[in-house]
Amino acid sequence: MAPPLVFPLPGNQVFAERLAVAVDGEIGELAMRDFPDGETYVRLESDPTGREVVVVATLRHPNEQVLPLLFVADAARQMGAARVGLVAPYLAYMRQDAQFHPGEAVTARSFAAFLSRTVDWLITVDPHLHRVAKLDDVYSIAATAIHVAAEMGAWIAANVASPILVGPDEESRQWVSNVAAAAKAPYLVLAKARRGDTDVSISEPDQRAVADHTPVLVDDIISTGQTMISAARQLAGDGGRPPVCVAVHAVFSLGAYLALEASGVAKIATTNTIAHPSNAIDVVPALAGPVREQLARAAR
Ligand code: R5P
Repeated sequence: MAPPLVFPLPGNQVFAERLAVAVDGEIGELAMRDFPDGETYVRLESDPTGREVVVVATLRHPNEQVLPLLFVADAARQMGAARVGLVAPYLAYMRQDAQFHPGEAVTARSFAAFLSRTVDWLITVDPHLHRVAKLDDVYSIAATAIHVAAEMGAWIAANVASPILVGPDEESRQWVSNVAAAAKAPYLVLAKARRGDTDVSISEPDQRAVADHTPVLVDDIISTGQTMISAARQLAGDGGRPPVCVAVHAVFSLGAYLALEASGVAKIATTNTIAHPSNAIDVVPALAGPVREQLARAAR
């Protein structure tokens, strides 16, 4: 049987090449460009007929990435691909998971409905599951979340002396507790009040608990960086040590990385679900197994 064809969307080439090697796949050639009017031209230069297709697209800029993704997946299906799966190391639109004010779109559900019509299966890394407890609650396709707490914990254990892990808010508890177990380190969770996109305040930590440790802030996403910056301020106040910041997804909206660096944190380390200079933790090995399993399902 022909090996699976792995098509990287623009910007995902390096990640996709490593994943293709890890799952015994073959990189699919794809031509994509913008027409002068802004529409997208797509051509699959590798024939997907009868083959398993994996599209690799991290959704850091989802609004501009989903139409090209739809065109690639649809083209593969029309050309007779056996199945089309999506590996989205970062899965967007998970945070607006409820209606907080009348009239709001619950985009986590709408986006899941869109992707469920677009591909046959989905694998992602540590999606922001909060009020939506599991991907199956919103995705109608086989949707798998892999967790990289072990990889993050191993990085912390190898790189930080005497760490204490700190979750900046209640939502981070699920990540920080698992990462702390993997790092064999203690942890605590602070409380966050968010009044706006960039207006965040974090509760004061118990300085006795963090004394004699290096604080390591752990979260799933760094977007504006305000959560990390506010938490870092609280930890470093009163003569505390500046924290190391560790996150799964290096979203970093405009200027956020520089602002976080300038806030005096000791180090910033992220996984490579989104390519970024702060990447220090590789998730490809953790993704390879579940992708192989999904591909093997088709072969049965
Ligand atoms: C939200 O609850 C997430 O877990 C992160 O804490 C949040 O997305 C970080 O956002 P920002 O960097 O904009 O403060």
